Parts: sequence; structure tokens; C-alpha cells
Amino acid sequence: MKDKCTRNLEYENNYGLNLNQCKLLGMGNHGKVYLIASDRVIKVCKDSKSCIYESFILTRTNGSKYFPKIYDYDEHFIIREYVDGEPLNSYIKKNGLNNDLINKIICLAEEFYSLGFTKIDIRCRDIMVRRDESLMVIDPKGSYTRNVSYPRHLMKGLNKLGVLEDFIDFLKEHRFELFKEWIQNFSSSQPD
Ligand SMILES: Nc1ncnc2c1ncn2[C@@H]1O[C@H](COP(=O)(O)OP(=O)(O)O)[C@@H](O)[C@H]1O
Ligand SMILES: [Mg+2]
Repeated sequence: MKDKCTRNLEYENNYGLNLNQCKLLGMGNHGKVYLIASDRVIKVCKDSKSCIYESFILTRTNGSKYFPKIYDYDEHFIIREYVDGEPLNSYIKKNGLNNDLINKIICLAEEFYSLGFTKIDIRCRDIMVRRDESLMVIDPKGSYTRNVSYPRHLMKGLNKLGVLEDFIDFLKEHRFELFKEWIQNFSSSQPD
């Protein structure tokens, strides 16, 4: 990988940016994310493998309403749609989890099946709840490489937030096939 200064200079030249003047939206293990326009962000990645792989996932999900559009990328950065919202975990802490939101979470998981993901899972903090209460995934990882057949981390997260029972009750009543599959898998993954 090129060194950080060279890389930053390249984005600045290519996109007329000064990253020092851009708002830092967040940073994770893989990179830093800056707001570069009212509708888009740049993720400056720490390693090229995860950068290319995340870009590959976003390229395949492009067109899905549940994923940010991808505008450009190389092995050092990703330019993608800005998602203005609150992570699902903090949203639930403040507002609880009603049936409408449960239904949206299930539809999101079903989108993972439709997109051919091998990992039907996501962490609560990687789902953003937007002002209109629509959901969007910000940080997809391993979607086409890991094998997870049900939303394990999602349910673990809901459990931690004290709302898993509501989620399960909804599944049982409205989506019995998913209820059987997910609950069976989840129960067998939990220590006795
Ligand atoms: N498209 C986006 N819109 C708004 N904020 C974002 C977006 N992508 C990332 N962020 C913010 O930046 C943080 C780090 O980005 P993320 O892609 O999760 O990095 P990492 O892969 O290192 O975990 C996120 O937790 C979130 O706060
Ligand atoms: Mg992250």
C-alpha cells in the first residue's frame, strides 16, 4: 500500500478534497470515514484487502435500497453514499423495538437471501435507522465469504438489548418458517 500522506494527497487532487477540513464521521478497525459532500463519504482504508472486498460487496449490492450506493473505489478508499441515521442498537435503547421495526429487520435479512449472501447476519451497530425509519447497512463484511445461515449476531444483539423475546414472538406469529429455522439454529448455538 502507498503511505498515508501519498494516498491522502491523491484523493485531495482527484476529488478536490482537503480531508483535514472534512468532518470525521467515525473510525473502525478498517478505516476512517469522512463526510466529503452532503450525500457522500470517503472511507480511507487501513488495508487494501478489506477495502477491495468491501467495495466488491457494495458493487454487488448496488441498487438495493438497503445498502449505500458506491461511487468509486480503489485499494485505498471507497466513496459511498452518506447514511444519515442512528445505529440500530442505540435507536432501540432510546425507542424500544415495535412490530413495525421488527418487520423491517426481517425484510432486511430477507434481502440478504435475495442478494445471494452466504452470511445472513449483521450486527445491530452496522444497521442505521434513518429519519424515515428505513434501514440501511453501513459496513457489510464477509457477506459472500462467511457461512452464517441465520442472523446470529443480530439476535445476540437484540438479546443484549432485552428485546429478543419480542422479536421471537413476532417471528412465531407472522413468519413461522423463519421462526423455526432461526430459533433452532440460535438455540443450538447458545451455551446451556
Ligand atoms: N456511509 C456512511 N454514512 C455515514 N456514516 C458512516 C458511513 N460509513 C461509515 N460510517 C461511520 O464510520 C464508522 C466507521 O466505518 P466502518 O465502515 O464501520 O469502518 P470499519 O470497517 O473500520 O468498522 C461507522 O461506525 C459509522 O459511524
Ligand atoms: Mg465498522
